Amino acid sequence: MLVLYGHNPKNIRAGDALVERALTPDLSAGGSNARPLDDDSRLGVAMIDCGPVVLRSFEPADIDALYSFRNDPNITDVLTGFSFGFSRADLKDWIESQRHDRTRLVWAIATKEDDMCIGQIGLYEIDHRLGTAELGAQIGDKGQHGRGIGRLVYTAALRYAFEELRLHKVWGKILETNEPPLALTKKLGFRQDGVLRDAQFRKGRYANVVLISILDSEWFELHGEKKQP
Ligand SMILES: CC(C)(COP(=O)(O)OP(=O)(O)OC[C@H]1O[C@@H](n2cnc3c(N)ncnc32)[C@H](O)[C@@H]1OP(=O)(O)O)[C@@H](O)C(=O)NCCC(=O)NCCS
Repeated sequence: MLVLYGHNPKNIRAGDALVERALTPDLSAGGSNARPLDDDSRLGVAMIDCGPVVLRSFEPADIDALYSFRNDPNITDVLTGFSFGFSRADLKDWIESQRHDRTRLVWAIATKEDDMCIGQIGLYEIDHRLGTAELGAQIGDKGQHGRGIGRLVYTAALRYAFEELRLHKVWGKILETNEPPLALTKKLGFRQDGVLRDAQFRKGRYANVVLISILDSEWFELHGEKKQP
C-alpha cells in the first residue's frame, strides 16, 4: 500500500506535521477539538493507492458525483443517518469544510484509470484522547458494487487508522438489514458490540442498528504488524 501524506505527493514531509496536528487537541479552545478556521490549520488526507482505486482528497470536480450519490435513495436509505438531501452549493461548502475539521478524515474513492469519484470513505468522530473513530463508507456507483472495491478501501482506511494515526479502536454503525457491510466488516475482524433497538426509521418502520468495533490489537493479530518499507 502506497501512502502519501497531504494531498500533493510533494508534501510528503509536511504530512507528518499534518497528522500530528490532527491528533493534537486544540488547548486554546478549552481542550475541546474545536475547529480552527485559519488557513494555517488546513489538514490534508493521505493519498492511498488501493490498486484499481485511489483514496484522495475531494476536489471541486467531484461535486457532480457527490450530488448524484448523496441524493440517491438506493444509497442513502441503507445508511444509519438521515439526509434531507444536498444541493451543489452544500457540497461545495462540505468539501471545503473537510480541510479544517480535526474530527474527521474523509477520502474520495476515485478510479485510478480516469480519476472519477465513485464514493467516499472516512474516519469520523475522531476522539483524539480515547484514540477512537467511526468508520463509514459508500460506493455511490452501484455498478461498482460486488467487485472487491469495498474490501480494498475498508482495509486501506483501517490500516491508516491503526498504523498511521495509531488509533486504539475503530467502530461503526450499520443497519441490521444492510448485509454487505455487516459481512465485510465481520470478515475484516470487527466484532458486534450490541444492537441499538429502533435507532432509525426507514420506509414507515423502525430499524435496529448494529454497533460494531475492532481494536488495534485485534487488527494487528489478524492483519499483521506494519511492514517496514
Ligand atoms: C458496503 C459496500 C462499501 C461494500 O462494497 P463492495 O465493493 O460492494 O464490497 P466487496 O465487493 O469488496 O465485497 C466484500 C464483502 O462484502 C460482502 N458483500 C458484498 N456484497 C454483498 C451482498 N450483495 N450481499 C451480502 N454480502 C455482500 C461479502 O462478504 C464480500 O466478501 P466476498 O467477496 O468474499 O464475498 C457497498 O455495498 C456500499 O457502498 N453500500 C452502500 C453504502 C453502505 O451500506 N455503507 C456501509 C454503511 S456505513
